[in-house]
Amino acid sequence: MSIQSENIQKLVARREKARMGGGEKRIEAQHAKGKKTARERLEMLLDPGSFEEYDMFVQHRCTNFGMDASHPDGDGVVTGCGTIAGRPVYVFAQDFTVSGGSLSKTMSEKICKIQDMALRNGAPCIGLNDSGGARIQEGIDALAGYGEIFERNILASGVIPQISAIMGPCAGGAVYSPALTDFTLMVKNTSYMFLTGPAVVKSVTGEVVDQEQLGGASVHASKSGVAHFAAENEEEAIQTIKDLLSYLPQNNLDTAPFVETADPVNRVDDALNELIPDNPNKAYDMYAVIRSIVDNGKFFEIHKDFARNIIVGFAHFNGRSVGIVANQPSVLAGVLDIGASRKAARFVRFCDAFNIPLVTLVDVPGFLCGTQQEYGAIITNGAKLLYAYGEATVPKVTVTLRKGYGGAHIVMSCKQLRGDINYAWPSAQIAVMGADGAVNVLYAKDIKADPENAGAIFEEKKKEYEELFSNPYQAAQKGYIDDVIEPRNTRFRVIRALEQLATKRQEIPAKKHDNLPL
Ligand code: HXC
Repeated sequence: MSIQSENIQKLVARREKARMGGGEKRIEAQHAKGKKTARERLEMLLDPGSFEEYDMFVQHRCTNFGMDASHPDGDGVVTGCGTIAGRPVYVFAQDFTVSGGSLSKTMSEKICKIQDMALRNGAPCIGLNDSGGARIQEGIDALAGYGEIFERNILASGVIPQISAIMGPCAGGAVYSPALTDFTLMVKNTSYMFLTGPAVVKSVTGEVVDQEQLGGASVHASKSGVAHFAAENEEEAIQTIKDLLSYLPQNNLDTAPFVETADPVNRVDDALNELIPDNPNKAYDMYAVIRSIVDNGKFFEIHKDFARNIIVGFAHFNGRSVGIVANQPSVLAGVLDIGASRKAARFVRFCDAFNIPLVTLVDVPGFLCGTQQEYGAIITNGAKLLYAYGEATVPKVTVTLRKGYGGAHIVMSCKQLRGDINYAWPSAQIAVMGADGAVNVLYAKDIKADPENAGAIFEEKKKEYEELFSNPYQAAQKGYIDDVIEPRNTRFRVIRALEQLATKRQEIPAKKHDNLPL
């Protein structure tokens, strides 16, 4: 055998060993937990044969606590570039079978290289996290490694899409890299995220809680909002990443892929003309409206289980990717509260950063009142959404279906926040507040002074108020609403509006950065 052939054989064998990560036993243990290995995950994620691996031979440099006894190639993370639906992405997948996927300085260098390449080449960066956190034996070097990763997350924010999938443990300060990225996915029952685990929680506060209750996928997808998606299993998580990417551009200078559609632009839906109940306090399902107007009824929802009184997600209108924000009258009457404001604000800012037009469907009775909301800073949190819409320069099309009351009307992409095209259905009520509340404020004295006729006075004044304000025409007369449209035509009108706005250009004053109310 020639020296060359021998060298090639050695290379093949070394690669083979590196691919086995922590070895067969640890792979079996990983499988026994219902988890896949880093390489199996990448195989599911990337187009077949597209993966270009880097730094397979990188080894840790730690000598503490007997670490010099073993120097596995790759050091617990698989990194590289591949394609998803033919479009390049940069990826890292932590390998729990090597030192529990814990982060060494060299692992951080591998991840940082990927982050740098993604940013330089304007392609999404995807992290598959499964790690015991900072590699304890490396001390401050491991912590510094996290710092390097965080800094890159921050610099890449708003330039390339960043996606984190949590597929095992993610604890301590390690949670902050996913938190800095645009979208976080978790897998039910096999992943968790928390700053301090159950044992520490118990010793510090006395609270007894298990991992799942403290930081499982369902908790973060529904209660904290930390996770945008909670997948049933790893396959679903990976598929969700692919679906998500199909709506996104590669970077902030790119536009999202056009998706050919056979759904007619001028398709009308007569059911929408019958959708709004006569009773303004009766709910209806906003999903029905969304599915009716988007291409092929296909809506990709983000943050589905968190703050369900507002709906956010992606869809296509005549093949173009659009972000939809919609109040949901069937949950808390579609009121804006702290969670809904935070959820929608983050989504609006993402769309604005990545050139994705916004379609806003409004039916909002106002902001939620009470001490819980005030103490939790509904003022600051509501301002986030207001700010996000006001600063957004992407095309903004708004349709008010029913209620658009008070500050919430203004917040939800009104004309004065540089809404481009604002439509209303004939059922719209654009006013400072609902009729009952308004009459109670304006005529409290009259009603009190004449208790015998209180009911009649109330009804008479309510009717007067409703005639004046419970319609879209006050706003339309002043140009705050561009047109009152028939509900059945909404798809066509939204698409035509988006087409008009396709070449929109709008600036914000030059500044170092904004001071969004955090
Ligand atoms: C070094 C680690 C490790 C770590 C796990 N391992 N975590 N090695 N540093 N942080 C090793 C284990 O020693 C073990 O090695 C192997 O990985 C598998 O771990 P097990 O404990 O056997 O697995 P399991 O029972 O599934 O438990 C997983 C675990 C547990 C819950 C993650 O390992 C654990 O609690 N690890 C420590 C978690 C932690 O506190 N990390 C620091 C967080 S603070 P062997 O060779 O025995 O198989 C942090 C700061 C970040 O990360 C700061 C950023 C600014």
